[in-house]
Amino acid sequence: MDFNLDSYVRTSLLTLQPYQSAREEFVNQGRKMILLDANENPFETESNRYPDPLQVDLKERIAKWKRVPPDQLYLSNGSDEFISQLIMSCCEPKQDSILILPPTFGMYQVAARTHGVGVVEAPLTKDFQLDLSEISNVLTPQVKILFIPTPNNPTANSFEPEALLTLLNTFSGLVVIDEAYVEFSKEESFISQLEHYPNLVVCQTFSKAQGLAGARLGMAFAHPKLIQFLNRIKAPYNINSLTIAAALKRLEEQDRVLSQVDYILKERMKLETELPKISFIANCFPSDANFILVKVDNSALRYDQLIDQGIVVRNPSKNRGCENTLRITVGRAEENKALLTALKNMES
Ligand SMILES: Cc1ncc(COP(=O)(O)O)c(C=O)c1O
Repeated sequence: MDFNLDSYVRTSLLTLQPYQSAREEFVNQGRKMILLDANENPFETESNRYPDPLQVDLKERIAKWKRVPPDQLYLSNGSDEFISQLIMSCCEPKQDSILILPPTFGMYQVAARTHGVGVVEAPLTKDFQLDLSEISNVLTPQVKILFIPTPNNPTANSFEPEALLTLLNTFSGLVVIDEAYVEFSKEESFISQLEHYPNLVVCQTFSKAQGLAGARLGMAFAHPKLIQFLNRIKAPYNINSLTIAAALKRLEEQDRVLSQVDYILKERMKLETELPKISFIANCFPSDANFILVKVDNSALRYDQLIDQGIVVRNPSKNRGCENTLRITVGRAEENKALLTALKNMES
């Protein structure tokens, strides 16, 4: 697969001399070494030593799990960090832009604006599908990255794989398929397409189905040259040792993760049956994720009434096309039951 790194990343960063961390300066061939190189405290705590800057062991494990070569994997402090690093790496401030498809995940826009990068929008259709002709209308050579979360946040639906392939075939910049909710989805991951599309970047996270939101671990899968470049510009120890240990442990518990996903999907089905019966819920949009978007009569009022009853949902109404909606995460059975009781109390 042909990939010219120079045409994707900022020229000023191409020649950047990366910081060489202490732990990268020698190759440990399995010997026990006396470490006097990094000004650490020599007395043992769980994390008195700096972590592996390239997370070799964890990457090997994830690479096997996801069936990709380890050199196509990059780990970040949550997907949020990766989104920011990718924009910073590829877009010239005050010149380049990213393309987003509202209603969409809010961090793409925040990260772009933080780096002085423009944000071009091609809204989804009324039923939250990709509008391919609108996308091609707004594409210019300055648009460097297209961000597509699927399943989409906040709408919860997945996009048609054929439409995503059309975009990969027609857009010459990077296409980021953000699969934060892929474990809940009936669609296949796009990781298998990496060998066909050098401009494809897939990101996933340990924050959702994997149950490690507090540990902050994102995974990005892309062409090896892009991964090498990201490794050069990242902070030396962006993944801490407690997170590495938690992720390694979670990888041993995938049966448990699968049964939790199964449980959540069953709970989602129950909510999808019950929510439309609530008199002020006008629409319950189809979900392919672990949350449901519902249309209500007055989202601000209903949000406050739920808060009064001790239940926090999200009010994404300021997003284009999401007026008077609430986004509800599928919880445990007793939590979902409490939600339905609270909603019924609000009917009178
Ligand atoms: C589509 C999407 N991408 C990425 C993220 C962020 O994930 P992380 O917790 O790994 O930063 C979220 C979080 O809500 C999300 O909805």
